[in-house]
Amino acid sequence: MASVFTGRSFLKLLDYSTEEIRELLDLSKRLKAEKKAGKDQRCFVGKNIVLLFEKTSTRTRCSFEVAGRDLGLGVTYLDPGSSQMGKKESIEDTAKVLGRLYDGIEYRGYAQKTVETLAEASGVPVWNGLTDDFHPTQMLADLLTIEEHFGKLEGLNFCFMGDCRNNVARSLMVACVKMGLNFSACGPRELWPDQELIDVCTEIAKQNSCKLKLTDDPVEGSRGQDIIYTDIWVSMGEDESIWADRIKQLKPYQVNSEMMARASDSAIFLHCLPSFHDRLTTVGEAIHERFGLTEMEVSDEVFRSPASLVFDEAENRMHTIKAVIYASLGGCDLA
Ligand code: CP
Ligand code: NVA
Repeated sequence: MASVFTGRSFLKLLDYSTEEIRELLDLSKRLKAEKKAGKDQRCFVGKNIVLLFEKTSTRTRCSFEVAGRDLGLGVTYLDPGSSQMGKKESIEDTAKVLGRLYDGIEYRGYAQKTVETLAEASGVPVWNGLTDDFHPTQMLADLLTIEEHFGKLEGLNFCFMGDCRNNVARSLMVACVKMGLNFSACGPRELWPDQELIDVCTEIAKQNSCKLKLTDDPVEGSRGQDIIYTDIWVSMGEDESIWADRIKQLKPYQVNSEMMARASDSAIFLHCLPSFHDRLTTVGEAIHERFGLTEMEVSDEVFRSPASLVFDEAENRMHTIKAVIYASLGGCDLA
């Protein structure tokens, strides 16, 4: 059955109204409950989707694969090295080919423009699985996790700590003001989001009676917050050589127990993952050897604390991605 979501791409949350995001969250809750109850959700048998990854992934890829299979879809995965796209074939031509074969396309890569071109040229729904600018499917999982924990979204105080102009921070700023959370970006001024997005989000915040704040003071930024969120200090696609500068810039914004103690008594910690909270990764170990750090954007203690809901958040990637696929393919029973 067709709905306002049918045939529509999911490229950034700015394209969706507060009410539409609410509907996707409610649909996610329903699909999650149905899956837990063992309901057969295969309503798209005979349809197929393709997952196009120009950057690596664990959560996003697996969430699309599991969600797709749960919904009865055939799923093709193209890894960062194995399609012709961009190298021997333009984005537009690739989109036209994939649009003939598939009912939906997921894309993770670099330019936001690429995912937009795929959507324009393919004629099928395209889902943004992360670009340099935005990570919208992550946002639905974050909002769902917050709502499951606090029983609401509106009026909560949310702080993003660290590299405030990366894809996750920019997306969170949009997600929070769209859904009525007070959003603080806390990080060094040179890593604040671009003024254009700040202006757009300030306007949305006004309409939704919430506040948008930027600060470079980690003490002020963390005080009284309900949710403290951080992300890695160097994102995919950025040059390795910036680690030294980033560590210097972002060390004061590490989420540790001292910082969590300044947040509200019932504060939670979120992180999109993957996270460098110990030395158990090759990158973590290399950073330790070069700079002596044993943990980076979040301390191991906070990461493993009861306030940390990062694995609920990771699971919710799948349920929310399922909702996006379900809605844009015109789910079995949507009004
Ligand atoms: N959070 C997230 O997008 O994780 P992956 O990079 O593993 O997909
Ligand atoms: N900002 C991070 C998010 C990873 C999910 C990156 O782009 O690498």
